[in-house]
Amino acid sequence: MGNPGERLAAAVYDPFLWLGERRGMHGHRARLLRQARGRVLEIGAGTGLNASLYPSTAEELILTEPVPAMLRRLGRRTTRDPRVRTMSVLGSELQVEDSSVDTVVSTLVLCTVPSVEPVLAEIARVLKPGGRLLFCEHVRATDARLARRQDRFAGLWAAFAQGCRCNRDTLSLLLDRFTLEKVDHARWSGMPSLVRPLVMGSAVPIR
Ligand SMILES: C[S@@+](CC[C@H](N)C(=O)[O-])C[C@H]1O[C@@H](n2cnc3c(N)ncnc32)[C@H](O)[C@@H]1O
Repeated sequence: MGNPGERLAAAVYDPFLWLGERRGMHGHRARLLRQARGRVLEIGAGTGLNASLYPSTAEELILTEPVPAMLRRLGRRTTRDPRVRTMSVLGSELQVEDSSVDTVVSTLVLCTVPSVEPVLAEIARVLKPGGRLLFCEHVRATDARLARRQDRFAGLWAAFAQGCRCNRDTLSLLLDRFTLEKVDHARWSGMPSLVRPLVMGSAVPIR
């Protein structure tokens, strides 16, 4: 069942993101996921806001999510897609074989995991040679004033947003383990300024 806080967070997740989705995030997701191919594994799939956006080139969809209340919503949203299998696992403990996945997807997850490195190591483990990570994450601002504000409010934001670190420099952490193929910087319009700076693109593990 999960705890009441998680159930509430899952219930308000889609309404809280609604404006941001309308003001561009839905389009960012769609453009990113157009590149998904073959056997796809999504980490922290949440309520399934990406689920309807996978193209037909995504032949199998393993949508993972560790929080039971989120997973239930994800399951309800995806029952009619025969490609989908949902799994209750952490990003740091993906229960799939080594080198078995063509595309890993992470949208707005690397801000929330307790530590990024073990999750990146798992993604690298499960990707086939030639496979890629597609990511869209909100990150630490390059603008010094906004970065200071992110630092100041990081604790409060984490308490409000289920542990999300608004000041995490996810792109630098990614570069420790992955080579970027493409990266775009954008804004998460319609959302609080603390989480507005976005990076999105594709990356391959450094072998
Ligand atoms: C901000 S939500 C993003 C949900 C979805 N990916 C989206 O784009 O809307 C963060 C998600 O990460 C999940 N999460 C939290 N800790 C995690 C972990 N250690 N491994 C994988 N996912 C995690 C949360 O349960 C939540 O569903």
